[in-house]
Amino acid sequence: MSFRIYCEKDYDAVSRRTASVIAAQVVAKPDCVLGLATGSSPVGTYKQLIQWYKQGDISFAEVRSVNLDEYYGLAPDHDQSYRYFMQTNLFDHVDIEPENTNVPSGLADDPAAECLRYEWKVAELGYADLQLLGMGRNGHIGFNEPCGDFPKQTHLVDLTESTIEANARFFASADDVPRQALTMGIGTIMKARKILVVVSGADKADAVCKAFSGPITPEVPASILQLHPDVTLVGDEAALSKLREANA
Ligand code: F6R
Repeated sequence: MSFRIYCEKDYDAVSRRTASVIAAQVVAKPDCVLGLATGSSPVGTYKQLIQWYKQGDISFAEVRSVNLDEYYGLAPDHDQSYRYFMQTNLFDHVDIEPENTNVPSGLADDPAAECLRYEWKVAELGYADLQLLGMGRNGHIGFNEPCGDFPKQTHLVDLTESTIEANARFFASADDVPRQALTMGIGTIMKARKILVVVSGADKADAVCKAFSGPITPEVPASILQLHPDVTLVGDEAALSKLREANA
């Protein structure tokens, strides 16, 4: 078992540290499968990776990527879709081959069939070598919301009010936030060989503490990571404060 925690002084340092773990993976295995996340937490990480790419320090030419999730009902060119996020925050700025990037389709007529296709795609790639994860304030990972069990495979989920509220800041109003999403399951995520969690800000402190020092329960989906053999957690002081207190 390997569980490493990096406590950094601020968001920039968190982003550099997270990017360095990803860069190390890409250098060690240039054709690796990177599991990627969206949201505000990894934005600085992607900026740092773009900078290192531009300096000639890393290349994504052989990398394959699989994203965690996508809103159901949003077109790839909708400015709040996760495909659009990945294009604008990373893919358009580095040398990754477009056909090597994978994000579930938010426009599939048959979402169940799309979930199955996506799960097979990730399996065919051999699952992620390194999966980057942000964490919701309720402990969600991907869009696996607190519920009665740990969903195994890619599936369609109804977003909780807390997630809709948290994500409303990116939309004109909460009413515009899609109510459903396609997401890798907990089983899909746990099959990644390494997990890299990035968190920042005091509003994540409770979730981080519950996830890494509380009971393993689907009520805190990230708590399953306690059973993963290789986890790196990168956070700032504020996000890690309660976990530290719990382990003091
Ligand atoms: C994003 C994702 C979500 C976010 C989480 C945290 O692909 O799957 O689980 O990682 O909602 O979001 P931020 O980073 O915006 O706080």
